[in-house]
Amino acid sequence: MGVRVLLIGKTARSHCIAEALKKSEQNVELYSYMDTKNPGVLKLSEKLEVADTLDFVKVKEFAEEVRPDFAFLGPDDPIAAGAADILEDMEIPSIGPKKELAQLESSKSFARELLAKYCSSANPDFEIFESIDGVEEFIETLDGFVIKPDGLTGGKGVKVQGEHLQGVDDAVKYCEEVLKTHTQVIVEEKLEGEEFSLQSLTDGENVVDCVVAQDHKRAYEDDKGPNTGGMGSYSCENHLLPFLEKKHLEEAHNISVEVAEALLKETGERYKGVLYGNFMLTNKGLKIIEYNARFGDPEAMNVLPILETDFVEACYAIIENRLKPGHLQFADKATVCKYIAPKGYPENPAKGKEVDISELNAGDVNVYYGAVNEKGGKLRMTGSRALAIVGIGNNLAEAERKAQRAIETVKGEVFYRKDIGTAKLVEKRVRHMKDVLG
Ligand code: AMP
Ligand code: GLY
Repeated sequence: MGVRVLLIGKTARSHCIAEALKKSEQNVELYSYMDTKNPGVLKLSEKLEVADTLDFVKVKEFAEEVRPDFAFLGPDDPIAAGAADILEDMEIPSIGPKKELAQLESSKSFARELLAKYCSSANPDFEIFESIDGVEEFIETLDGFVIKPDGLTGGKGVKVQGEHLQGVDDAVKYCEEVLKTHTQVIVEEKLEGEEFSLQSLTDGENVVDCVVAQDHKRAYEDDKGPNTGGMGSYSCENHLLPFLEKKHLEEAHNISVEVAEALLKETGERYKGVLYGNFMLTNKGLKIIEYNARFGDPEAMNVLPILETDFVEACYAIIENRLKPGHLQFADKATVCKYIAPKGYPENPAKGKEVDISELNAGDVNVYYGAVNEKGGKLRMTGSRALAIVGIGNNLAEAERKAQRAIETVKGEVFYRKDIGTAKLVEKRVRHMKDVLG
């Protein structure tokens, strides 16, 4: 008998998750449910249902039809809306936390308050406001500020002083704007340092880390331009990052353990799924920028392709509360993921344009399909990040070279960041870290 898995998905991250599930020795039958007909997921699935991932009546119907052994929840929005809860009611376990626990990502105020209670030293100074009263006074007390709407914004609603906002007046205006559409706005201390993504699997008590990765949120080279969902990411063969020491990773791991324990204590429920900490190493120590309740996109693509442990077995270990240290083994390889996006992304992306990968040598890289449709053998971009190209190598230079060589063969009205994973950019990050640490 095989294992029947329901994958709720979106974007190239889901294609990568689908691949990791299918690689299992356990003969996986994949039943996927996504809001687009992702050509990569389609190829790996017994059936792909195209429907709104927030339409839980339809999700339930599909789950009833499929009767999976478990579900894997890929994207943030169905997790935040409670997909795990409705599946649990049908006695289907999920890799992905229930709604109350998923507030760790979906509500920045919930997350900051939880962290303030259980790991305050890793939390920046912050205050939560329901009206504009007191905003200006609090901002005046900070050296720099960041303004965050309280809710899911795809990483695009956060505004940072010196980048998207300048003075206090700007900040107050933006808070007023946010409060028109959100009940709360969070104002926090601007931190200075280098960010990294530590994605861990947890059964609600035991926390096992994946290889650490670094994402690149800005649209253009040299970290210029608007924030995006992430234009690419890299990881290193020694499972560290060039600006990060082992002790920092251990500290980040311990924080994630504290967070899992805090959630269990506060809610009485085990958080089951991916606990993705977005940390920043600063001159005030290791700080938490945010937690996500899912794999990162693109960072999933730095870890799953080099996972040597059977992923389905790891999912069962989460379901059966038997994750243990060393449960996840990764190859000693570096990875570089570069995303192809339509010109104009994220603000004004061209839609319906063809992207041609016929000259790409697929033997050299992993290609994951994101916001593209396939018709008559042609791929057309639907407006968001279209294709993720992942190079894997014995070191960062080799992984970058492979990704870059492949991406250069892609044709269409597209752009990508050539600099991700290059020695020049990595050295810049190391210098920045040295400057910050002083
Ligand atoms: P978030 O949605 O909270 O991850 O924020 C998006 C991006 O804004 C992060 O990846 C950071 O680059 C930046 N950011 C968020 N919070 C802070 C902070 N307190 N200090 C500096 N930068 C921040
Ligand atoms: N890479 C950022 C995210 O997945 O949220």
